[in-house]
Amino acid sequence: MKTLIVTGGAGFIGSNFLHLLHASRPDWKVVNLDALTYAGNLENLISLEGWKNYEFVRGDIARREDVERAFAAARRFGGPVSVVHFAAESHVDRSIESGLPFVQTNVLGTQVLLDAARAHGVERFVHVSTDEVYGSLGDTGYFTEETPLAPNSPYSASKAASDLLVRAAVHTHGFPALVTRCSNNYGPFQFPEKLVPLMIAKASDGESLPVYGDGKNVRDWLYVVDHCEAILAVLERGRLGETYNIGGHNEYQNIAIVRRLLSELGKPESLIRYVKDRPGHDRRYAIDASKIERELGWKPRYRLEDALPLTIAWYRSRAGWLQRVRSGAYREYLARQYGG
Ligand code: NAD
Ligand code: TYD
Repeated sequence: MKTLIVTGGAGFIGSNFLHLLHASRPDWKVVNLDALTYAGNLENLISLEGWKNYEFVRGDIARREDVERAFAAARRFGGPVSVVHFAAESHVDRSIESGLPFVQTNVLGTQVLLDAARAHGVERFVHVSTDEVYGSLGDTGYFTEETPLAPNSPYSASKAASDLLVRAAVHTHGFPALVTRCSNNYGPFQFPEKLVPLMIAKASDGESLPVYGDGKNVRDWLYVVDHCEAILAVLERGRLGETYNIGGHNEYQNIAIVRRLLSELGKPESLIRYVKDRPGHDRRYAIDASKIERELGWKPRYRLEDALPLTIAWYRSRAGWLQRVRSGAYREYLARQYGG
């Protein structure tokens, strides 16, 4: 049995992680600390209703008093507390518009959380990071845990900064942290600003699909359930102070993903529209995940050929979810429920 604080549990990966815990570790006690930004959606967590070991705390990781409320809730559950830290501003295009919210949450917020976690003597702290901290690859090669950090976007720079703050806490204070760096995720509950759900939403509505640049940028795609299982393995069995890359050797050019989605959806390729490239667009990401496979016995269970259709089926069966998220209805609910 564990008592866990999960930050960002109302977002895409965090909500999938909570579903995994609910199904596979139902006796664990879980506090979800989430600010409910545009990307956080309590509708993602409806299936947790009735789970008596679960508590939601609305709060900002960058505000110590909010973080303390989460620790107080965890203390009420009892037992040693661990933290899995997902909360972040996560979208590269938004970081290009303005880097400040990224520094505020990803850098400042992580430090506030680290300070509180250290003061409370947490058992383990898993910091969920991204392969984007390594920068961009050429046509060959893979990111290993030893690849130097070379982030290129304000998003990835803020994540790299947070990784280094975690590293410093480990080195200076002997803080019991672990870092994970995963490749691009797709699956249920992903906010429709990211490539896969955006293209599903647009194609379903017969809108054109904006492909940046020549469409030949490569991403290494991982089904979100595989990512969540890897994080759970790191939380339970990872070596303190270590970093683990997570990925599944699923490299595809963006245009190949878009074509595959169109074909699965039965929509014409004429919907594809090449648009101006993203500034500073990283060309290729590819993960060497042999360390986590070797040390923790984790391997992805899903192939893109199977999990992309599952993802499409999920979005089709949740047309209401997609419509509410896209229309801003959820924001209106939040304003009513929480006053803004
Ligand atoms: P997301 O944007 O879907 O969700 C982020 C969640 O964090 C939301 O629920 C939001 O309300 C919450 N949040 C934001 N700012 C907060 C704050 N100041 N205080 C408390 N909560 C706050 O993100 P995601 O795609 O689920 O990503 C989760 C984590 O995984 C991030 O740290 C991201 O860097 C990392 N990651 C994501 C991917 C990916 O493909 N999406 C890949 C690798 C790593
Ligand atoms: P994204 O989902 O934003 O993830 P990231 O930038 O973190 O990898 O984008 C994935 C890839 O898809 C990336 O190379 C940018 C590209 N892309 C498009 O071509 N069009 C779009 O509308 C979006 C959102 C992304």
